[in-house]
Order: sequence, then C-alpha cells, then structure tokens
Amino acid sequence: MINIAILGLGTVGGGVAEVVEKNQNEIKKSLGDNLHVKYILDIRDIPGVVKDINVIVNDPDVKVICETMGGKEPAYTYTHLALEHGISVCTSNKELVDAHGVELSEIARAHNCSYLFEASVGGGIPILRSLRESCGHEKISYIAGILNGTCNYILTNMKAGKDFNTALKEAQEKGFAERNPAADVEGHDTARKIAILASLVSGKKFSYEQVNCEGITKITQDDFVEAERNKMSIKLLGVYDAENNSVNVAPYLIPENHILYGVNDVFNGIFVKGNQIDNLMFYGRGAGKLPTASAVVSDVIECAKNIGRNVNNNFVDLPLAEVNKIPENNSGFKFRVLN
Ligand SMILES: NC(=O)c1ccc[n+]([C@@H]2O[C@H](COP(=O)([O-])OP(=O)(O)OC[C@H]3O[C@@H](n4cnc5c(N)ncnc54)[C@H](OP(=O)(O)O)[C@@H]3O)[C@@H](O)[C@H]2O)c1
Repeated sequence: MINIAILGLGTVGGGVAEVVEKNQNEIKKSLGDNLHVKYILDIRDIPGVVKDINVIVNDPDVKVICETMGGKEPAYTYTHLALEHGISVCTSNKELVDAHGVELSEIARAHNCSYLFEASVGGGIPILRSLRESCGHEKISYIAGILNGTCNYILTNMKAGKDFNTALKEAQEKGFAERNPAADVEGHDTARKIAILASLVSGKKFSYEQVNCEGITKITQDDFVEAERNKMSIKLLGVYDAENNSVNVAPYLIPENHILYGVNDVFNGIFVKGNQIDNLMFYGRGAGKLPTASAVVSDVIECAKNIGRNVNNNFVDLPLAEVNKIPENNSGFKFRVLN
C-alpha cells in the first residue's frame, strides 16, 4: 500500500480523495498496489484533518503529496519542504508551476523524487504526459489551445445570442466562473497554461509575464454577427509559435473547417503540430472536481511507480526564453484568424 497526503480539501483535493476511493480496483490494476490517503491537511476545522505540514513530511510512510491548495503560499513552502524530504508532489496549481516550477523540479531531481503537474493545464486532458512521453521525441512547432472553460462557456453563449454580462452571470450561477472572474476573462489563466505548455515542449522557460495577453471583455454581439457571416467562431486561444518564438493569448476567429471550431461550452481543446506526427487534437473537460482530480491521481500513480527515482518532467535546466513580440494582425478583421 502506498500512503499519500492531500494538502487542501477543496474542489480538486476532495475530488482526489473521491477518485482514490471509487477507482481502487483500477488504480491497483495500473499501479500494482493500492493508494491510501493517510493525511489530509486543510486550514478549516474538519475532524481528522491535520494542520501541521511537519506531521506529514516527517512520516516516512508518506510517499506522495497532492498539493491542491492553490496560490503561491503556503503551497510553495510546503512543496519545497516535501521535496527536500524526498516526497514526490503532484499539483493542480498552475500559478505555482508557472512561478516556481523549474526551481521545484530541480529540487525534486536533487532529492530523487518527482514534481508533476498534469492537472495544471487542461484539467482532465492528459496533455502534459502525452507531450513529454508520447511526443517527447517530436519537435513541436505550434500549440493553439482553448484552455479556459469559463471563457469558452461565455463565448459559446454569446454566439447563441446572449450578451457578455448575461453569459458571465450564468457561468457564475452554474459554478463555472469565480465570483471574481478577472483571471479568466482577462486571459491570465490561459496565459499561465500556454506558458507552461510552451516551456514543456521548447526547452526554454516561458513565463506568464512574457505572454502577450488580451481577454474577451471587449468582444461584442456585433463581432459574433460578423464572424457568423464569414462562417467563423470566436474563441479565446493561447498560442505558442516556435518559429516566431512567441506566446500570446487573444480572441481568434476560427474558420468552420478548423477542428477547434466545434469546441464549445466548458470544454477545452488543444491543437498541437509536431514535425513528424503532424496535427494532433486533445479534447476534454478542462476543469471540474473529478476530471481535474483524475489528472492529479494519474501523476500520483506515476510517482508511486517511481519511488526513489526522479521522473523527468521536462521542467529542469530551462533557460529563460527570449520572447518575440507577436507579428501584427494583418487579417483585415478586428481579431486574428487561426490558420
Ligand atoms: N477547480 C477546478 O476545476 C480546477 C481545475 C484545474 C486546476 N485547479 C487549480 O487547483 C487548485 C485548487 O483549486 P480548487 O478549485 O480545488 O480550490 P478550492 O476549492 O478553494 O480548494 C483549496 C482548498 O485548500 C484550502 N486551503 C487554502 N489555503 C490553505 C492553507 N494555508 N492551508 C491549508 N489549506 C488551505 C482551502 O480552504 P478554504 O476553503 O478554507 O480557503 C480549500 O479547502 C488551484 O490552484 C486551481 O487553480 C482547479
């Protein structure tokens, strides 16, 4: 039996406990052993929950920790401490991965454990493992992703005739959007995710601050009428272009014949071009309790299969990328057009 701990029993952390419980048989099949949640750490007074990280990191039985608290602190300090104790950490925390992912990955390597973050991009979509494992030998030239379910839900509803505020309110009522939706609608969430993807495939560290970022707040109903007239839809994309050495987030016009055109509602879609494999498309739930937790558990299993060893996560020894400004929009439209 492999003992694990969960830091932060919120949406994702609660989902991890549920997936470990409900999919015991499947986990055993994949890992060849059972997973057991030995500790849960949370700030709230919940029976059985611990408050002191030292209890967890000083227990030699704990082999993997799931950091599902979010934010930079104390997530950074706790992750650092766990890795220094040789305990692998799996996280859904894109903010921390973007800001300190390289440093934490190098600490993991130095202590023969792992730092994995499948759930930080694309929720339940197994995009990072596919890129670093199945496509690790590919030269990835281009990634275009619908990476924020809240924005995609709003844009899908605007296409159907609703205005921005009504669509946003509906997303909040359904629990898709935060009460403060700025990180989603201003594109910052997408920027963190495309920066992580670009770093993973390029061998250089792209950071969120380097992403040229425009959100969806200026899109109007008239824009959708015009897009429809030209047989296109409007989607917020995070785009990495290896040839231009650029990363940007902006609303794009997607032609009807492009595979991203049909990615609607809260779903995410990630379109990837490799030099040998050609075009790939990943589609699925980019957020939500169980899909995101499923991605965390996939990392836990990989760590548990490699106890005492470091899993290469493509996030070590990365020099900071020198990012170019994205080329002018010469499409003749208000928005860029996806080719
Ligand atoms: N929700 C999703 O669908 C989703 C998808 C992909 C990635 N993520 C990422 O996953 C992370 C967690 O998101 P979430 O939606 O699960 O958030 P959440 O529901 O707010 O859960 C976070 C949990 O951590 C607890 N916590 C906060 N600070 C703590 C501290 N100092 N010590 C101990 N516990 C603490 C929170 O307690 P309180 O409630 O008392 O603050 C809460 O129980 C974030 O980085 C998020 O971006 C989420």
